[in-house]
Amino acid sequence: MQASVIASTATQARKLCAEEIKEIEHEMQLYPDKQAVGLEALKIVQKHQGWVSDESLLGISKFLDIPVSDLESVATFFNLVYRQPVGRNVILFCNSVSCWIMGSESMRSYINGKLDIDFGGTTDNGDFTFLPVPCLGDCDHAPVMMVGDDLHRNLTEGKVDEIFSEYKSKE
Ligand code: FES
Repeated sequence: MQASVIASTATQARKLCAEEIKEIEHEMQLYPDKQAVGLEALKIVQKHQGWVSDESLLGISKFLDIPVSDLESVATFFNLVYRQPVGRNVILFCNSVSCWIMGSESMRSYINGKLDIDFGGTTDNGDFTFLPVPCLGDCDHAPVMMVGDDLHRNLTEGKVDEIFSEYKSKE
């Protein structure tokens, strides 16, 4: 999922909510300058809003008083800053070499068939977005994926079934 250039100059900045402001101000105490807080601010807004819209990007830019182009560059570089809406649960699926050797392609096909989405897609009911990521650092337990903040290892078709039913039952 790529960051996008803000489409219209008419886009209005969103006023950040109180929780977002409180958390960003906390981060500002930990970093030497506002520029350095940019990535943390993007992550905070994403946590609260689910993704970072153009309006949110402008809101952060205004609040931190840094150019929106700088934030856009950060969002582009860190591909886990979502610049388009995502599902309630984001599947980060490792597509690096150890997982590939251990059968990640067949797991990808299985998930593709089960959820009817491939990389970059979101299920029609908004439950899941499916994204490829580089190595998740747990190659000994390949194939590996994350769903939200949870790491799932040694994936099999049976495990994938269990994992998805667990997330569905959390609704
Ligand atoms: S290659 Fe998949 S976790 Fe490292």
